[in-house]
Amino acid sequence: MDVGLTDRRVLVTGATGGIGRALTRAFAAEGARVAVAYHRDQAAAQAAVRESGGEQRALAVRYDLADPACGDTAVGAVTDRWGGLDVLVANAIRPPTFRPGAASFEDVPVADWLPFVQDNLGRTVATVQAAVGAMRRGGWGRIVLISTHLVRQGAAGREFYTATKAALHGLASSLAWDVGRDGILVNVVAPGLTLTDRVAAMPRQVRAREAAATPSGRLTTPEEVARAVLFLGSALNGNITGEVLTVAGGH
Ligand SMILES: NC(=O)c1ccc[n+]([C@@H]2O[C@H](COP(=O)([O-])OP(=O)(O)OC[C@H]3O[C@@H](n4cnc5c(N)ncnc54)[C@H](OP(=O)(O)O)[C@@H]3O)[C@@H](O)[C@H]2O)c1
Repeated sequence: MDVGLTDRRVLVTGATGGIGRALTRAFAAEGARVAVAYHRDQAAAQAAVRESGGEQRALAVRYDLADPACGDTAVGAVTDRWGGLDVLVANAIRPPTFRPGAASFEDVPVADWLPFVQDNLGRTVATVQAAVGAMRRGGWGRIVLISTHLVRQGAAGREFYTATKAALHGLASSLAWDVGRDGILVNVVAPGLTLTDRVAAMPRQVRAREAAATPSGRLTTPEEVARAVLFLGSALNGNITGEVLTVAGGH
């Protein structure tokens, strides 16, 4: 089935992470040109470029959420190379996603949590702004923001993480109005606990408990998340916008 991604220009942030690698593979397999936005792991980014068809078809772009200019820089690198941007998958996360140490919620200093929110939310919003500018010029676009099923469920110690991710849901639902008439659709994918290398390294009992808490009885795979993103981030998605798609085995 043609999903309409041939030669489309796709920017994936956090592309060297567990879910990010599955995302770049999924888009490259559909004939898209993929910009691999990486933070520290340049070797992994270069491997992803090779896997995505080499330097004619893929591009490694350094991307640090701590840098106020990261969105403009990454989107600029894609438009300079390929003349535009069609798809953004905002997937990067700057840890820690748990409340630090044993601190009570009320004891976490603003100076500790505000940079987390600023980097993960503020810089993601700025990246979306840069992407929308490029997509409006092209008259077509798909934006997928990666959240977490914990926004709906909640989890002890995850207040700053879920607050940050929940804001992306609000961004999608309102931005959908602003960009809809320009052919741009913006949605959220909210994975459940996903079997990346990091999660696979968790104690077996933790993984078993999480799996048992889902109707499907198992954890999500990165490829399953990637297929949902591919659907919303391609021409298969004709008119779905402002929505949240949870990929968590019914959790
Ligand atoms: N895995 C899960 O169970 C799960 C569940 C629900 C939602 N999610 C969401 O899915 C997304 C991907 O998660 P993942 O599990 O694939 O995470 P991961 O394996 O830890 O990968 C995170 C990615 O973000 C990059 N990153 C870290 N700090 C950064 C910074 N300051 N600036 C820019 N990029 C930075 C990492 O690069 P470096 O390694 O080079 O630092 C890496 O490429 C995240 O948004 C996460 O919240 C994951």
